[in-house]
Amino acid sequence: MTLRQRLPNMRSTLGPFLAFRTELGLLSIAALDLMLSILRPDLADLASRPLDVGHEFLKSYDFIVVGAGSAGAVVASRLSEINSWNVLLLEAGPDEPIFTDVPGLGGGSARSNIDWQVRTEADLGYCRSSQGGRCYFPQGKVLGGTSVLNGMLYIRGNRRDYDQWAADGNEGWSYDDVLPYFLKSEDMRVEKYKSSSYHATGGLLPVEEMRFNSPVTDELFKAAEELGYPEIDVNGESQTGFFRFYGTLRNGFRCSTSKAFLRPARNRKNLHVSMRSTVLKVLIDGETKRVVGVVFDKDGRRYVVKATQEVILSAGAFRSPHLLLLSGVGPREQLDHFGIPVVSDLPVGKNLQDHISLGALIFLLEDPISTILTRVNVFSALTQLLFSNKGPLMSNGAVEISGFVHSRYANASENWPDLALYFKSVTENNDGGAFLRVLEGLSDEVFADLVEPILLKDAFGIFPCILHPYSRGEVSLRSSNPRDPPIIRPNYFSDPRDLAVAVDGVRLAMLLSETKIMKAHGARLNPNKIRGCAHFEYPSDEYWACAAREITMSAWHFAGTAKMGPSYDPEAVVDPRLRVYGVRGLRVVDSSIMPIIVSGNTNAPAIMIAEKAADMIKEDKLDFQNIFS
Ligand SMILES: Cc1cc2nc3c(=O)[nH]c(=O)nc-3n(C[C@H](O)[C@H](O)[C@H](O)COP(=O)(O)OP(=O)(O)OC[C@H]3O[C@@H](n4cnc5c(N)ncnc54)[C@H](O)[C@@H]3O)c2cc1C
Ligand SMILES: *[C@@H]1O[C@H](CO)[C@@H](O)[C@H](O)[C@H]1NC(C)=O
Repeated sequence: MTLRQRLPNMRSTLGPFLAFRTELGLLSIAALDLMLSILRPDLADLASRPLDVGHEFLKSYDFIVVGAGSAGAVVASRLSEINSWNVLLLEAGPDEPIFTDVPGLGGGSARSNIDWQVRTEADLGYCRSSQGGRCYFPQGKVLGGTSVLNGMLYIRGNRRDYDQWAADGNEGWSYDDVLPYFLKSEDMRVEKYKSSSYHATGGLLPVEEMRFNSPVTDELFKAAEELGYPEIDVNGESQTGFFRFYGTLRNGFRCSTSKAFLRPARNRKNLHVSMRSTVLKVLIDGETKRVVGVVFDKDGRRYVVKATQEVILSAGAFRSPHLLLLSGVGPREQLDHFGIPVVSDLPVGKNLQDHISLGALIFLLEDPISTILTRVNVFSALTQLLFSNKGPLMSNGAVEISGFVHSRYANASENWPDLALYFKSVTENNDGGAFLRVLEGLSDEVFADLVEPILLKDAFGIFPCILHPYSRGEVSLRSSNPRDPPIIRPNYFSDPRDLAVAVDGVRLAMLLSETKIMKAHGARLNPNKIRGCAHFEYPSDEYWACAAREITMSAWHFAGTAKMGPSYDPEAVVDPRLRVYGVRGLRVVDSSIMPIIVSGNTNAPAIMIAEKAADMIKEDKLDFQNIFS
């Protein structure tokens, strides 16, 4: 099908952009990688990239870590600090490309070979206007995992989140318990935060401010002030207010967990990193319930490698539960249905949580203060990027500032915001349909209704995201074939309270657009509505509730599918030391273990979970007396 047939209503101006994105996109990405590798050898960093072990595996390792993502890269790095332990790290994807280091280009990896390209099942309750009625989720399939294609925001969540985990019986996970593990990784490089007791310097994970902000973000900051919101450090004492974001960046460029944690470990003889290695199953002895090893495919060959101590699953909130199910750890009924012998009957895959809301909420501007794709001088942007680490490509574009606020349903005196307002200076319309449309999986109809009439006009977006979802989704087996992706049903808005908070978020977004300062820039709501909700008054709460079910946007913070809990918790899959119940030698260490999703972005928490897990494993396995006496 040609581009024009796919998008019948498309204005002719749009053609070249989309053609660039879809037909030439891959070619230009390869060309860009080549150019960067020649002009910026510091980014290519060939001398310190992890080496692939090839096909020279040992018969057995002390530890096998599955998945080299936000969490897995950290676990493998920390465990291999112990010289006497052999560690094998298996990652389904390849090494990181170079272009994803450029903050403004990370979105370009959506739907490429380093993205698992996850799709949910169709459901009438949400994502109704997404392609095929199925939500689309980017997920990293690459060394560094989703930290290679995420928005880089460094946000830990609220003190109360962790205190709630601890109150529910998860000993060792209160805020005061986990803060040292956030600090352990951190190398805070923003001057004003260096001396804060909430931050640390000298860790492996650099945290910096973005090198570029669109003019509109300064104005939005003033708008928040006008509404009485304070400026805060999102990871500091109080978490209600607005903040300019800082993120996992080094010298302004993306720093994935592979870059931060695996590259410094490149020369360790006891760490084998194996890329393009897809684990199919964890082998567990049915009698003793002890982990034996893993089965994986690499370059068309199948391997069985043994683990003498432990297998650690860090395959993310979809693939860790998937691997558990394939290995006989899961709900008995489901495993029986697929003829998989049950090793441990546990509620694996339940309790899926995420942060979501209405997407494509666009406000137009009279003044030219946003980032319009056609206004960016590509040559100058590239020159600035290459020779001075500056310019618009040094912004992640999508989100430069955010606010954490209380909806009308939350108790503001608890200082536990239930809404995040992410401001976008790049919107679905001012990027000409070239990037966000693809990343967010907008359908042609929504694009034609909502975006096309205001294409390439000045605008900003607000993504009002719910932080305390009540709805719970599920990951389950599609078949017993490990190559079949799991079934994913997030069940967004199945609890009506989530929809109510989302709608209230739109109200707060509108209030910001109606401040004096934003009015002075001619801010006004996108006058176009989508056809699926055209029968509702516009704007109205009913319209927004309908629109949220049509254009359901995820912040891609999947969590909870291998829930941590005490032994008396019937929903628990792992104990507070992250050991899978009923199996010996198996832990889950990634975003899956969160019992309740934190009220913030999930990358820093995944890294914290890995830091803490590595320490717990060292405590469990090493004789500390011997080491330290
Ligand atoms: C587009 C996007 C933007 C985001 N923006 C932010 C943000 O700005 N800030 C923030 O804090 N969070 C953000 N997030 C969320 C955050 O990045 C994730 O929650 C976090 O990276 C999850 O870490 P993880 O270790 O659980 O999983 P992942 O990082 O996804 O790691 C899982 C790894 O396991 C590998 N794997 C899976 N199955 C197998 C197998 N069978 N065999 C071998 N390997 C396997 C995968 O390839 C992957 O490398 C964003 C997410 C997305 C998708
Ligand atoms: C709000 O929270 C405060 C502090 O925890 C508490 O004292 C108050 O009773 C709460 N109000 C309501 C209406 O729940």
